Amino acid sequence: VLPTLTFMVTYLVGIVMQGSTPWGPVGLSPLGFYEVFVRNISTYTNPLTLSLTITTAAVYVASPALTRLVRGWTSPVPAVLLASLASLIPMVPMDPALTQGVQGALILAASSLPISYAGSWYVNSVDVLPMLYGSIADIPDKDTLIKYYREDWETLIGLDSAKRELIIASESFRGSGVRPIHGVLLYGPAGTGKTALGLGYTAWLGLYRGFRVIVVKAGRLMRGGPWEAAWRLEKVFQLARALQPSVIYIDEVDSIGRAREEAGAGGYRLVSVMLQNIDGVASRYDKVLVVATTNNVNALDEALIRPGRLGDLKIYVAKPPPEMVKAIIVGVAQQRGVLIPPWLLEKASGLIETGAEAEALVNCLAIKQLAGVKDPTQLDACLAGITRGIEAYNTSQDMG
Ligand SMILES: Nc1ncnc2c1ncn2[C@@H]1O[C@H](COP(=O)(O)OP(=O)(O)O)[C@@H](O)[C@H]1O
Ligand SMILES: [Mg+2]
Repeated sequence: VLPTLTFMVTYLVGIVMQGSTPWGPVGLSPLGFYEVFVRNISTYTNPLTLSLTITTAAVYVASPALTRLVRGWTSPVPAVLLASLASLIPMVPMDPALTQGVQGALILAASSLPISYAGSWYVNSVDVLPMLYGSIADIPDKDTLIKYYREDWETLIGLDSAKRELIIASESFRGSGVRPIHGVLLYGPAGTGKTALGLGYTAWLGLYRGFRVIVVKAGRLMRGGPWEAAWRLEKVFQLARALQPSVIYIDEVDSIGRAREEAGAGGYRLVSVMLQNIDGVASRYDKVLVVATTNNVNALDEALIRPGRLGDLKIYVAKPPPEMVKAIIVGVAQQRGVLIPPWLLEKASGLIETGAEAEALVNCLAIKQLAGVKDPTQLDACLAGITRGIEAYNTSQDMG
């Protein structure tokens, strides 16, 4: 509908700009119309109109905020108007005077698009462009995947059984007679490595199983409220299906998948979109995997964590036992080339509770090491800052 409307409005804009109708609308094909349009409008358009058009088009395509306004659930009218203006770009450079200089280069670049396709191209592209340019989701390239794999998967210590489970689950995408799993949920307390594990696994799927990786930014997705988020999430899944086999990674999924009873009508719609796309009639046999993490599994809608959805593989990532805490500190210190005095290691192993805290301690020690600080009070301050909060940290700083 939108491309058709766009086309009609473009037609009307042409009439207004020319002040007359030198061609009859009856019996003219879209391509024929555009050809006539190009021939006619090129002699009438002035540079001011032109730059206005280009600016409008650029802003329209580039700005997620405007796109949201235009292509949210509100109204298609501004979209049609703007896309109509945008579609005028390729029609103008017939006038040789306009093909010179920077402006000319811009116009020529724009006009390399198939002319009859321009209107619908603009309308369709705004669906996907904001996503590809990183405002809703990232599609990491191979180098980025390697980085995620090295820094998030390989550096994790003591999560071997979780890793093994994840790798085994991916076999469901290879065999015949097996339904590919639809979802993986990593849940548990904060700081236990869920985000790193999920992203690392996603990268592994991309590097070793040929999956296209789509990393959703939940915060950005939710901007503008649940109705728009639902619309955007639908786009993410559309893209994922087009690129399958693919994996969608959603960190902190509880921001999207809150229980429907508490989320209001918009939230209800958002969860429904998620359910339909993970395990709906149409999506059942797609090779699209959703990997999600949460610190708050109780907030999630129950339907989301059933088998066939995110509940296909639920992995609880627990806080490590004290011996493991020690191993994590030692391991991370080794990875970073940081020396940790035995007394501090002993003390820290009793106080630190999660991998994230261990990492923060090692990082703090790494900074001191770089600065050449060896004073035990100062090294101890690193630990105090992590385990006892800001106030304790300040006190021990004063002492040092
Ligand atoms: N078991 C672990 N081994 C090594 N590093 C860890 C471990 N757990 C957490 N970390 C470190 O802590 C950081 C934060 O962990 P994160 O994945 O954000 O935790 P969560 O998402 O569960 O809150 C990670 O980037 C990682 O460097
Ligand atoms: Mg996290």
